[in-house]
Amino acid sequence: MQRLDKLISDKLNLTRSRAKALIKTGGVTVNGTAVLSCDYKCSDDDTVSANGKVLDTRQFVYIMMNKPAGVISASDGKGDKTVLDLLPDEMRRKGLFPAGRLDKDTTGFALITDDGNFAHRILSPKSHIPKTYIATLDKPIDDAVIRDFENGMTLGEETLLPARLTPLSDNMAEIEIRQGIYHQIKRMFQKHGITVTALTRTKMGALSLDENLEPGACRYLTLAEVDKICQK
Ligand code: URA
Repeated sequence: MQRLDKLISDKLNLTRSRAKALIKTGGVTVNGTAVLSCDYKCSDDDTVSANGKVLDTRQFVYIMMNKPAGVISASDGKGDKTVLDLLPDEMRRKGLFPAGRLDKDTTGFALITDDGNFAHRILSPKSHIPKTYIATLDKPIDDAVIRDFENGMTLGEETLLPARLTPLSDNMAEIEIRQGIYHQIKRMFQKHGITVTALTRTKMGALSLDENLEPGACRYLTLAEVDKICQK
């Protein structure tokens, strides 16, 4: 629920007093009817138009992208293309950022949102939200590697949270981690002399990457899907 004058001022980049003036002069409709009271409470289901143009009234949006290799998952690619550059024009809006980092060569499930609190909640190491990846490896893994992942391995100075490692074939494995330190998965394998030759994120929480999304494509998540990200 948002006040109509705040919504109009945010979406049209107007001062609050100009937004109020627009409302009071009948320039704003909600579900097709002119609303003159500035404190009208709008819900996400309302269709709000200003001067005949329908506004995007969602307070926050959550976008799933199938990140291709070679694209940076940061707001500033410092010369390189970012996941934000791949958004189609109609999905662009103020305040969007990628929630969490994937390496430039990592592919798969990237989440883009303008909801800072949500991003903080799912990325905090305390949240223990699992992130699932499939890695292609240069050699097979053995039980000692699996146990080290499961026990919470030491990497440099740091002791990691327990992770799950499931072999899928001789050179592929599924990994589930509950934190996101720099190059975490590549470094966990490197500790055992194994090189990750390809890495893709398939899942955040209980939500899987939509298989219909081609590399570089994206779509909005429903609120039920957003909730699934928070499920362990
Ligand atoms: N671990 C990595 O090494 N790289 C990623 O992009 C994500 C997790």
